[in-house]
Amino acid sequence: MCGIVGYVGPRDCSDVLVSALEKLEYRGYDSAGIAVFEDNEIKTVKTKGKLENLKEKISTEGKPDGHVGIGHTRWATHGEPSDVNSHPHSGARVTIVHNGIIENYLELKEFLVSQGRTFLSDTDTEVVAQLLDYKYNGDPLETIDSVLAEVKGSFALGIMFKDFPDRIFAVRRESPLIVGVGDGESFIASDVPAILQYTRDYYLLEHDEIATLAADSVTFVDEHLQPIEKELKTADWDMEAAEKGGYAHYMIKEIHEQPTAIKTTIIPRIRDGLPCLEECGITLDKLKDFKNITIVACGTAMHAGMVGKYVIEDLARVPVNVDIASEYRYRNPIINKGDLVIIISQSGETADSREAMRLAKSRGAQTLAIVNAKGSSIAREADMLIYTLAGPEIAVASTKAYITQLSVMYLFAFELALAKETISVAECKRLVAALLKMPDAVEYVIDNCEEKCKYIATKLIAADSLLYIGRELDYALSMEGSLKLKEVSYIHSESYAAGELKHGTISLIDKDMPVIAVATQTDIIPKTISNIVEVKSRGAKVILVCTDTCARALDEGVADYVIEVPHCEELLMPISAVVPLQILAYYTAVNKGNDPDKPRNLAKSVTVE
Ligand code: F6R
Repeated sequence: MCGIVGYVGPRDCSDVLVSALEKLEYRGYDSAGIAVFEDNEIKTVKTKGKLENLKEKISTEGKPDGHVGIGHTRWATHGEPSDVNSHPHSGARVTIVHNGIIENYLELKEFLVSQGRTFLSDTDTEVVAQLLDYKYNGDPLETIDSVLAEVKGSFALGIMFKDFPDRIFAVRRESPLIVGVGDGESFIASDVPAILQYTRDYYLLEHDEIATLAADSVTFVDEHLQPIEKELKTADWDMEAAEKGGYAHYMIKEIHEQPTAIKTTIIPRIRDGLPCLEECGITLDKLKDFKNITIVACGTAMHAGMVGKYVIEDLARVPVNVDIASEYRYRNPIINKGDLVIIISQSGETADSREAMRLAKSRGAQTLAIVNAKGSSIAREADMLIYTLAGPEIAVASTKAYITQLSVMYLFAFELALAKETISVAECKRLVAALLKMPDAVEYVIDNCEEKCKYIATKLIAADSLLYIGRELDYALSMEGSLKLKEVSYIHSESYAAGELKHGTISLIDKDMPVIAVATQTDIIPKTISNIVEVKSRGAKVILVCTDTCARALDEGVADYVIEVPHCEELLMPISAVVPLQILAYYTAVNKGNDPDKPRNLAKSVTVE
């Protein structure tokens, strides 16, 4: 995810910006740049690639020599990673860096083009730079305020106005931004680690507040341009804790990042209320011809594929086979020329998934990769590519990558169903609108379920083994819940299609075998409930994850603990219902004294067979 820094003070600004950006490298990025006032002119150096490339370019082009400036590391969303798409971006009198997404940038760009403006890059950021320049009236605060009234989306901006060479400005909506204060110097940054080497004192900028930073003063106004006083905070974390943003572990931080990760992934792929995957090489025309789909992946990514199977088959009526990559590649699978093989991978480097893709390609299949890591092998080699824009996932147990894989699977299924004409445009728009509501649903679940999950997790630590049960989509989801729990808590668990229990596995059930049941699909809830009654009557403690509507209809005592998630579009329920399963796994691991970020025997990227 993009990182923003800014500096005003006596130090060499270019050096401060680059070293602060180094502290944000953990966020992941594909290009970097800085802009510094030098003799009242804004000098910008930016480049594709790592900070090393930026340093090299600075040393060849000459280091901007000044004391006021802004810097950026970019994780590409709109437009490929390239020198020209790198930040900072400028209008004639304004230069900015930006984190987040401007949802209505196309509309704003059309307007600005109609006003004779031309654009150098493909980014939504340059639209904001040009809009600021277009609206500039000599007063930076009024100008920023009038732009805030027009832009939609989530963003944090660092801004320099050419007429004000002794200060920088900052504003944010949803995307994080802090304002640091030192002795005769001030800073902006996306995250505390960037400034810890200079100061521990900082302000948290809130929604639509605008900060003005000079060397010896920092002032704030609210959205009505009224001056406001803010509470100065002091960071008491070490660097590692700071990178976790105050969370105890990356895993829980990444669980909390999921609403943003979904938004970042889906918003750029929606136009006029419909999925738009053209930039990923996917068109309705191309999709029309696919008659068979195989999804190949490992672990959590394979579980996202399981959800994909249910959704694609339900909406687009195309048969989908989900295969474990390490099985598929050695099994002489049936691959017909022109079949579509989808490879899902967070790292894009998983050896079995990569080889499965190569096998499919060599037999004439079209391949579509759904990958999080930019420029990874699978991303480079696939015929079509949709990046999940989850940002770097550091915890070994995948959470936010999984939820963005689901989000992409939904968009793809909607687009395929449109191509196959199995749903109408109106129905597709309705589904897309429902998908756009899921980040809020996930946020709601995090806010309302975390404490309850934390408590229930204290009851799970004594178990030697657990069962997860569900039907259809809930079964696909229980697979992921079960994997999450076992990998971080080291408690054995299995997931079973609830209706399959009585064909053998129910003999394992006794009072020492807790059962986690997932029930989010109204038409089959009664069936799942009857399976719950079966295990409960054999002594099992039951934890039920279900919709609030299901919870209201439950008989007393059906489950020992009920975790309610809000009832959304049912096909989309896995997105919000996975969250309590992730949180349960996390707190069970923590309660057992395990490090959930680095579970034993596991690696983040499995590049060996
Ligand atoms: C579990 C987990 C793994 C990965 C699997 C595939 O939390 O992260 O099961 O999903 O190793 O990795 P990628 O997605 O990188 O191909």
